[in-house]
Amino acid sequence: MKRRISSGSRPHKPRAALQLDRAPVTASPADVHEVAAGNPFQSGAVNRNGLNGLSQCGTVGLSTGTFHVSAVQPINYVIEEVEGLLDPENKTLLRGVVPDSFPSRLSLDPCQPGERRLVVIDDNVYRIYGAQLREYFNVNGVEATIVPLPTMEANKSFDLVYEIARQAEAFKLNRRKEPIIAIGGGVCLDVAGLFSNLYRRNTPVIKVPTTLMAAIDASIGIKTAVNFENRKNKLGTYCPPLGVFIDRTFLRTLDQRNISNGAAEMLKMACVKDAPLFHLLEQNADQLRATSFQDKVASVAMRRSIQGMLEELEPNLWEHILCRLVDFGHTFSPEIEMAALAHGDELLHGEAVNIDMALTTQISYARGLITAEEQARVIGIMQRFRLPMWHPVCSPDLFLKGLKDTTKARDGLQRVPLMSGIGCAVFVNDISPAEIYSAAAALQTFAMQRSHCFAENSSIVAASAKLAVPV
Ligand SMILES: NC(=O)c1ccc[n+]([C@@H]2O[C@H](COP(=O)([O-])OP(=O)(O)OC[C@H]3O[C@@H](n4cnc5c(N)ncnc54)[C@H](O)[C@@H]3O)[C@@H](O)[C@H]2O)c1
Repeated sequence: MKRRISSGSRPHKPRAALQLDRAPVTASPADVHEVAAGNPFQSGAVNRNGLNGLSQCGTVGLSTGTFHVSAVQPINYVIEEVEGLLDPENKTLLRGVVPDSFPSRLSLDPCQPGERRLVVIDDNVYRIYGAQLREYFNVNGVEATIVPLPTMEANKSFDLVYEIARQAEAFKLNRRKEPIIAIGGGVCLDVAGLFSNLYRRNTPVIKVPTTLMAAIDASIGIKTAVNFENRKNKLGTYCPPLGVFIDRTFLRTLDQRNISNGAAEMLKMACVKDAPLFHLLEQNADQLRATSFQDKVASVAMRRSIQGMLEELEPNLWEHILCRLVDFGHTFSPEIEMAALAHGDELLHGEAVNIDMALTTQISYARGLITAEEQARVIGIMQRFRLPMWHPVCSPDLFLKGLKDTTKARDGLQRVPLMSGIGCAVFVNDISPAEIYSAAAALQTFAMQRSHCFAENSSIVAASAKLAVPV
C-alpha cells in the first residue's frame, strides 16, 4: 500500500474513539482508498485501530497476552548492464530514490543539479577513475563527496564500516533522498552494503562492481559482510541494494589474477548448473582471460553466470534453504581463505573457492559421480585460467575444520554439493575424514608435480593438463 502526502484538502472526519472490546478492524476498500489518497495524520483521513485499520495483528493479545506480528517486506531491485557509466552524458549514476517508496525504489530520472551524493570507492579504483568520476559529477552539477577507502580483504572489518559512518555523519546524509554510491570490488560492496543497512537502519545503496567477481557474484545478491576474529564474513546482514550497474569496461584495468579470480565463480555455476556455460568457458578460456572479458563471448558468459546465480539466489535470498548449488566451492574455502590471509600469503576469494572445487571434484571422481574425462575437463579450465589447486596452508586437518564449521552453519548436515556430471550436482551429507585425507593427498601430489606450471602467484601451486587425479 502506497502512502502519499496530500495537500490536506479532504474533509475532516472525527477521530474514532479507541474501542478495546470489539473485534479486529478490517479496513474496508473505502478506508484503504482514503489512506492511500492522503496522509492520515494530516489530511483528515479516518483514524482507526492500527494505522487506520491496516494492522493485521488484531486485538486478541489484549485478552490473551500473546501478540502475533506478521509483515512481509518486498524485495525489488534492478541489475543493469550499462555502457559508458562515467560518461557525463550518461545519467544512470545520478538516479535517486522514488519519493516515499517502500522498499526504496530506484527512480528513472536523474537528480537535479545542486543535489548531493556520497560516493564510497575502492582506493585503487579511485586512483584510476577518480578524475573521470569527479568530472562526471562536476559536469552534471552534482555536489559529490568521494571517499576512497583501502577496501582490501585484509581490511575487511568493522573499522571500515565505522569510517564510512563517520563520513556519512560529516556529510549529513539524508537517507530519504541521497542514496550512497559504492564503487569497487566485492570487499568495497560488502562493506558499503553493511554500512547502508546499519545507517539509520537502512540507507539505500547503489552498487557499481568493478571486478569480475563483484559483477557476476558479490554485487547481485543481498548479502553484506565483514570478517571478524579471523573468520570469513562472520558479521553481516541481508540488505538489498537500490540498484546494481555493471559496466564491463571497468574490467580492462583489472589485473589478470583478479580476472581469473572472478572466472572461478563463473566456473562454479558452469560445473554444477550450466553445461552450455561450461562449454563456452572450455572453448574460450584463453581468449576471455586475454581480453579481460571485453568481447561478445564474455558478455554471453557473464549474462549466463548472472542468470544462473539469480535463479538460485532469488527464491532463497535469506538462505532458509540450506542445500544451495551456489555453495559449490564454498564448503572448505572460507577456512582456506582466512588461513592464507593469516599466513601472509593471501589467496583471493575465487582462488580459495577453486581449491575447494578441485578437492570436491576429486571426491566426485573417487565416488564415481564423474568420469576421469569429466574431471580432466574441469581441471583443464582451472588450469587455463591459471587458478591454484593447492596452497601451502592446505592440509586435510584444515579441510576437516572447514567442513565442521560449514556443517554447523548448515544446521548440522554437510549438504555439500558435488558434481555428478558436467552442469549437474548432488548434495551429500556423508563425506568422511578418510575421503578428505585421500582426496587431499591425491590433489597435493598432483599439484606439486605441476608446480612449475601456470601459477599466477608464484607461491601458489597450480596443476597442469594431466587428466584425472589418481587416487
Ligand atoms: N556478498 C556476496 O554475496 C559475495 C559474493 C562473492 C564474494 N564476496 C566477497 O567479495 C570479496 C572479493 O571480491 P573481489 O574479488 O572483487 O576483491 P576486491 O574487492 O578485494 O578487489 C580485488 C582487487 O582489485 C582492485 N580493483 C577493483 N576494481 C578494479 C579495477 N576496475 N581496476 C583495477 N583494480 C581494481 C581492488 O583494489 C583490489 O585490490 C570477498 O571478500 C568475498 O567474500 C561477496
